Amino acid sequence: SFPPVPEQDMAGLEVLVTAGPTVEPIDAVRFISNYSSGKMGYALAADAAARGAAVTLVSGPVALEPPARVRVVPVKTAREMLAAAEEAAPRAAIAVFSAAVADYRPARPADRKLKKGVDDAALAAVELTPNPDILATVGAAKRPGQVVVGFAAETDDVAANARAKLASKHADMIVANQVGEGRAFGTDDDQVVLVTAAGDEELPLMPKRELAHAIWTRALEMR
Ligand code: CTP
Ligand code: CA
Repeated sequence: SFPPVPEQDMAGLEVLVTAGPTVEPIDAVRFISNYSSGKMGYALAADAAARGAAVTLVSGPVALEPPARVRVVPVKTAREMLAAAEEAAPRAAIAVFSAAVADYRPARPADRKLKKGVDDAALAAVELTPNPDILATVGAAKRPGQVVVGFAAETDDVAANARAKLASKHADMIVANQVGEGRAFGTDDDQVVLVTAAGDEELPLMPKRELAHAIWTRALEMR
């Protein structure tokens, strides 16, 4: 038998998803990054495409197969991710920012390999500078009817921090989850709270693909 055809309830909609980590060069061979696997963003892209959406997936470097029928825009740094997101955002009915963007980048990356005994001062103290906030930038430029969704990975005060991000980033929804102790990063399941102006909705632990479906369904209701 064939698998069931998913409901095409996102047909005709363009959506944007950011996913994975960003990598920020220190020199020609080293970088700063984080543990993001990209699984949540790829699950979001796959689910929206299966429901008929035209998906742009702006992705940092990950070890995942691109989902079927998704336009993937590969990027490395936060600044590249911002440029790609700003290019796609004006056409997007819904934009979901699941990427784990490096908050800071080396201020002056070397275009060669830094060497012990030669570049010790530079290696011992890499000066950092803040990266742009991609969600906040797109959120601030949001037009009426556009739905913007962010994530918040927190070790402490999950709901309060998520609510603060809802406001500061001009988001319509924050998907909040507790991280640390092996939770969330790289796992196949997640337990989150959907934080909106209307209140908090705690979802049960579920596979990321099911969670992706729930996030789109909730975002579609907000249009
Ligand atoms: N985000 C982003 N660009 C950044 C930082 C974060 O687009 N430079 C987005 C993430 O994709 C996520 C949301 O903002 O959807 C929250 O990210 P998070 O790292 O939890 O929040 P920050 O604002 O960076 O604050 P902090 O890391 O200090 O908690
Ligand atoms: Ca951050």
